[in-house]
Amino acid sequence: MADLFTPYNFKNMTLKNRIVMPPMCQYSVQAEDGIPNDWHYVHYVSRSVGGTGLIIIEMTGIHPDGRITNQDTGLWQDEQIPAFRKIVDGVHSYGSKIGIQLGHAGRKAQDADPSVAPSALAFSSHYKIPRTLSGSEIEELILAFKESARRAVEAGFDTIEIHGAHGYLIHQFHSPLTNQREDEYGQDLALFGERVVKAVKEVLPEGMPLIMRVSAQEYVDGGYDVEYCAKIRERYRDAGVDIFHITSGGEGPIGSDGGPKAQPGYQVHLAESFKQMLKVPVIAVGLLDDYEVAQEVILSGKADLVAVGRGMLRDPYWAAHASKALDAEQKVIKQYERGYK
Ligand SMILES: Cc1cc2nc3c(=O)[nH]c(=O)nc-3n(C[C@H](O)[C@H](O)[C@H](O)COP(=O)(O)O)c2cc1C
Repeated sequence: MADLFTPYNFKNMTLKNRIVMPPMCQYSVQAEDGIPNDWHYVHYVSRSVGGTGLIIIEMTGIHPDGRITNQDTGLWQDEQIPAFRKIVDGVHSYGSKIGIQLGHAGRKAQDADPSVAPSALAFSSHYKIPRTLSGSEIEELILAFKESARRAVEAGFDTIEIHGAHGYLIHQFHSPLTNQREDEYGQDLALFGERVVKAVKEVLPEGMPLIMRVSAQEYVDGGYDVEYCAKIRERYRDAGVDIFHITSGGEGPIGSDGGPKAQPGYQVHLAESFKQMLKVPVIAVGLLDDYEVAQEVILSGKADLVAVGRGMLRDPYWAAHASKALDAEQKVIKQYERGYK
């Protein structure tokens, strides 16, 4: 039976444990022209020193206007590759694997003027009304996802995560509430995401796993449920997604039924049902920073990997501390051994 410290192998990627640092935008630190700086280097490499199995770099724009804010990282031009390669090499030298989340914020791009989306519907009254994407612009964005993925491969990443969650562009396309187009992308809501997946796959080396983050459930009034989401994700899986990272919400203001109760493991049931319905490996996320709770998710087989976000903002050495607390065999990094004697 696997536990939190059982290595995990998928295609050519072997993780030393089941612990993932999920993508978390750093916003306030100026990433000039999308290029990560010393902050990002220290931030990500610290989590590697702390024993994390897989680190996923924050949502990184495939287009300048696809960033949530202009302070976010980007991979829309080759000049941005070396700074990412430096982080990749640093993380590798301490024994972790590293992925990058590629995304486009669509109508949630706060600094883009105008922002773009499948349909001209604002996220909320505090956001701009986005401009509707033309058919040829959609083709360009699919190509931009592919080109960013090529750059990520060149930078040496072990895996790529496509951001299909939290109300960003891919989510906007497959949600009936935000996609009211009359062209092929409106008649088939999974088409945009499916084409992105296929395009990205074309530049991925054979053995590199592709992850996709999805919101399994929407919380706006009239939002979709897990069953609807699973149908869409079948298309993404068949197009080449290997592992799904299961989160929820983010598509708009929370509806009258209320949002999820923020309690430990509040999204694990969604990961579990995805795993069962789609027969794919899944990453569970959402208040899993209690060591025993995270351990239980793996022991029970509800998910293959667990991601700890805010817990790792507080504690870069979360994995090392989990190893000690759970009496696991993963050693802390040699330089810090005396701190744990
Ligand atoms: C500061 C911050 C930035 C985040 N940025 C991203 C992001 O870039 N992409 C993403 O998919 N989720 C993002 N998230 C969501 C986290 O990846 C994670 O799903 C969420 O925090 C729940 O997990 P937790 O309870 O372990 O923190 C962010 C969360 C935080 C706290």
